[in-house]
Amino acid sequence: MQAWPDFSARSDEPEWMDTQAIPLADFAGCLADLEQVNRLLFAAHPTMAFLQRLTAGWPQGTELRVADLGYGQGAMLRRIHLWAERRGLRPRLTGIDLNPQCRELAIANTPSAMRIDWHQGDLFDWSPAEQPHAIISALFTHHLTNGQVVRLLRWQEQTASHGWFINDLHRHWLAWGSFRMLAWTMGWHRFVRHDGALSVRRAFVAEEWRVLLAQAGISDARLRWHPMFRLCVGRLKA
Ligand SMILES: C[S@@+](CC[C@H](N)C(=O)[O-])C[C@H]1O[C@@H](n2cnc3c(N)ncnc32)[C@H](O)[C@@H]1O
Repeated sequence: MQAWPDFSARSDEPEWMDTQAIPLADFAGCLADLEQVNRLLFAAHPTMAFLQRLTAGWPQGTELRVADLGYGQGAMLRRIHLWAERRGLRPRLTGIDLNPQCRELAIANTPSAMRIDWHQGDLFDWSPAEQPHAIISALFTHHLTNGQVVRLLRWQEQTASHGWFINDLHRHWLAWGSFRMLAWTMGWHRFVRHDGALSVRRAFVAEEWRVLLAQAGISDARLRWHPMFRLCVGRLKA
């Protein structure tokens, strides 16, 4: 039985996903379960609402360039692709993920008609050929140190022409406890059970985001709590 953790500061315990190599079929099970968690907890809604705000008033046929950092198996970009086409926009989407198995699984899960560029590599080594309108991420920033988050915030601010949106977790004992109960009940993959609960402990509270934003020199970002313990930070440029 795990002792009650300390929620007063971010945990720096590494996630299994970042440190343990497992066969592709096993990892596929992990990412499929993570996708189920996201669907069950309506995780994509804040990001989709941000993109709706960002593209409000854009005429039909306009190109929409979005970069997704840490795409996992790519469900968010596939969702954005479907939404953008329904909305009459022309999606040009790029994902960046460190893990080569994520690229393999994202390609395998993406219909060939969706032309999404799945890039493998460290985000901090990536420079886009063309400026994205929006840079988004989900469950990604808690993988970084505070210093890396500040670097990321500055880079996003310089790189995205229209705005950026970070969708991550709120570090709270209730999120941790309820996720553990749900994950064990659902019998999710051992990585999802372990890393999901640890992700809450690695995540942020609002005051920490205010400090990180100030360190990055960003004064007008919007910090909002969304249901199911998502703490999201975004900025729409004028
Ligand atoms: C928990 S998964 C999130 C997947 C997906 N975005 C979601 O919401 O379910 C975090 C992803 O970030 C990726 N990642 C971690 N550090 C990274 C880095 N420095 N550059 C690019 N990707 C990174 C990992 O490989 C992993 O696929």
